[in-house]
Amino acid sequence: MIKRAEIAGYEGLVLTVDAQVAGARLRDVRNGLTVPPTLTLNTFLNAVPRPGWWWNFLTKEPLNFAALESWNGTVAQLMDTMFDPSMTYDDLKWIRSIWKKKLIVKGVQRLDDALKCADYGVDAVVLSNHGGRQLDRAPVPFELLPEVRRELKSSMELHIDTGIMHGADIVAAKALGADFTWIGRAYLYGLMAGGKIGVERTLTILQTQMVRTLKLLGANSIAEVDASMIKFLK
Ligand SMILES: Cc1cc2nc3c(=O)[nH]c(=O)nc-3n(C[C@H](O)[C@H](O)[C@H](O)COP(=O)(O)O)c2cc1C
Repeated sequence: MIKRAEIAGYEGLVLTVDAQVAGARLRDVRNGLTVPPTLTLNTFLNAVPRPGWWWNFLTKEPLNFAALESWNGTVAQLMDTMFDPSMTYDDLKWIRSIWKKKLIVKGVQRLDDALKCADYGVDAVVLSNHGGRQLDRAPVPFELLPEVRRELKSSMELHIDTGIMHGADIVAAKALGADFTWIGRAYLYGLMAGGKIGVERTLTILQTQMVRTLKLLGANSIAEVDASMIKFLK
């Protein structure tokens, strides 16, 4: 896959390290989140008042993922078949040696792991607990961020996701030292509500919220925010 990504001209490789086995995603099972989606009585009732959904469902090409075509179970079951839970830092070293472009490790949840990734020549880590979809009660990335920023002496980029649902979340993460924030569910909600236009709308909403937050903080740009503007409620 790495070779294929390289030949296809991808610039960055994201190695997700917090999904070595699937979390117990009970809602996925309950809601029929399989590939292809399962039409349960609940999904059926949910769709009754949504004629646009029915129109798409009945007239458009069915939802399909080339990589998952021959799989009939849930995504979690697929993960348990595909992923290797015995992976170690030696594997990271190997990946670093064969992938010369940007390497990002996603799902880092401890200070020592973040620092170790920097030692292994990783270009960026994403502090993330997978939106709580993996280990329930895992550390909150936003709370981990300040100490990682404080202790990180290298130029490795610090990214964060999990719970970025408002422009103010992005400002707050930046203020605590994140170089980037990622969004998962926020854009998916936009996608589900309105396709491409829905995703664009998500970005517009986040941007508007960010700008208003900056104005209310008295900052002229995102570069002006810092930790003194953030208060943790303990
Ligand atoms: C439907 C769905 C599919 C996801 N698939 C992946 C994936 O394939 N690889 C991955 O690293 N993270 C995956 N994630 C996790 C997201 O990348 C992200 O870490 C998580 O949703 C937290 O961010 P959020 O709070 O903005 O949603 C997925 C999340 C959702 C909701």
